[in-house]
Amino acid sequence: MMKQREHFGNRFAVIAAMAGSAVGLGNIWRFPYVLGEYGGAAFILVYIAASLLVALPIFFAESVIGRRSRLDTFGAMRKLAPGTAWKWVGLLTILSPLLILSYYSVVGGWSVEFLFKALSFDFTGASTEEEVSGFFGRFISSTWQPLITHTLFMALVAGVVLGGVKKGIERFSKVAMPLLFVLIVFIVIYSLTLPGSMAGVTYLLKPDFSHLTSQAYAAALGQAFFSLSLGVGTVLTYASYVKKEENLVASGVGTAICDLLFALIAAFAVMPAVFAAGIAPESGPGLVFQTFPYIFNKMGEGMPIVSALVSATFFLTILAAALTSAISMLEVGVAFLVDERGMKRRTATLVLAFSTWLVGVLCSLSFGSLSGIKLLGLSFFDFLDTLCSDWLLPLGGLAFTIFVGWWMSKADVRDELTNGGTVNVKLFRGVYFLMRYLAPVGIILVFLSNILL
Ligand code: PFF
Repeated sequence: MMKQREHFGNRFAVIAAMAGSAVGLGNIWRFPYVLGEYGGAAFILVYIAASLLVALPIFFAESVIGRRSRLDTFGAMRKLAPGTAWKWVGLLTILSPLLILSYYSVVGGWSVEFLFKALSFDFTGASTEEEVSGFFGRFISSTWQPLITHTLFMALVAGVVLGGVKKGIERFSKVAMPLLFVLIVFIVIYSLTLPGSMAGVTYLLKPDFSHLTSQAYAAALGQAFFSLSLGVGTVLTYASYVKKEENLVASGVGTAICDLLFALIAAFAVMPAVFAAGIAPESGPGLVFQTFPYIFNKMGEGMPIVSALVSATFFLTILAAALTSAISMLEVGVAFLVDERGMKRRTATLVLAFSTWLVGVLCSLSFGSLSGIKLLGLSFFDFLDTLCSDWLLPLGGLAFTIFVGWWMSKADVRDELTNGGTVNVKLFRGVYFLMRYLAPVGIILVFLSNILL
C-alpha cells in the first residue's frame, strides 16, 4: 500500500528546501576558483547562459518526473517507464552524489579547520603576509590534519542522517543561510576597500573571450549542474514532496535565481581580494581558502574583534551550508538501500558513509603524500571532481531531459507544468522547447566538443 506522502507547506518552503541543497560549497568555494581558471567575466556570461538555458530546463524536467511519480529516483523510473532500462538512470543518479560527497567532505573538513583557526584568532594574529598566505598550503599538504577534519565532517553528515536531527539542522540553516548572505555582502564591501581590489572588479566585469576554450563551456555547464544539484536526483526527490497546486516553473526559477545570486556575490567577495593580495586567480581548489585568511587578517589590523567575529561566524555558516548539501547527497543512497533493498537505516548510513569516507581519504591525500599519482593528468581529487561535474551530472541531466522531452507524453508533461492548464499556459511552449531540444542538444554539443577538441 502506498504511504501518504509528505508535502512542503508552500512555495517559500519549496524554494527554501531546494535552495538549501543548491547553495553550498559549490557557490562559495567552487564557483570563484573555476571562474578564475577560465578567465573571469567571459566565463560568467557563459555560466549564466548555461544556468538559464540548459540547467534550468533540466531542473523543470526533474521536477516533472518527481512530482508525477511521487517516488525516489529509482522508483520513479520504474513507475513511469516500467520494464525498461530507464531504471539504470535511477541507479547512476544514486552513485554520483556519493562520489561527490567523498571530496565534498574533504572541503567541508577544510571549513571545519578554518572555523577552528578563526576561533583561535589565527587569522588576526599573523604578522607577515607569508604566514597568512601559507596557511592553506601547509595545512592541505599535511597528512593527518585534513584527514581528521574530513572525518569530523563526514561524522557530522552521518550523525544527522542517522539521528534524524534534520529538524534541528533545518531550523539552524534557516537562520544560517540569510546570515551567510549578509556576511558575504559585508565581505564584498570590505574587499572593495582593499588597495588593488579594483583590478578584481575589472576582471569580473570586462569579458576577455580569448580565455574561452572548449573546456570552459564544459566547465560552465558542469558548474551549473553542480551548483543546482542537478542530474543526481536531488531535485527529483524534493519535487516528489511538492503539492499538486504548487507552480513548478516558479519554484525552479526562484531556486535558480537564489543560487546564481549567491555564486555571483561570492565571486565579488573573493576576486577583488585575490587581486589585492596578489594571489593568482587560477590557483585552483585552494583559491578561496587562501584568500579569506588574507581578508580576515587585513580586517584584523583595524578591527580585530570584528574580524574574529566575522570570520568565525562566516566559517560556521559555510559549514551549515555545506552540511545541508552534503546530507542530501548521502540521503539519496540511504533512501535507496532502505526502500529498495530493505536494509536498516542505521546500517545503510554507516556502510555508505564509511565507503564514501574511504574514497575521500584518497582525495585528501592527493594534495600531499599522494600528489604524485595522476589519473589522466589530474590528481585524484581533481579527477573525481571533473568526472562528476563535467560528465556524470550532465549525463544524468541529459537522461532526465530526454525522458521528459521524448519518452513521456506531452500531455502529461503539460499537465504537470501547467497544473492541469491553470498556470504557465503561455510559457509552456517555450519551456517544453527548452527541455526537448535546447537542453539536450546543448549538453551533447558540449560533450562532443570535449571529446573531439
Ligand atoms: N549544490 C551543492 C553546492 O553547490 O554546494 C552541491 C551538491 C549538492 C551537488 C547535492 C549535488 C547534490 F546532489
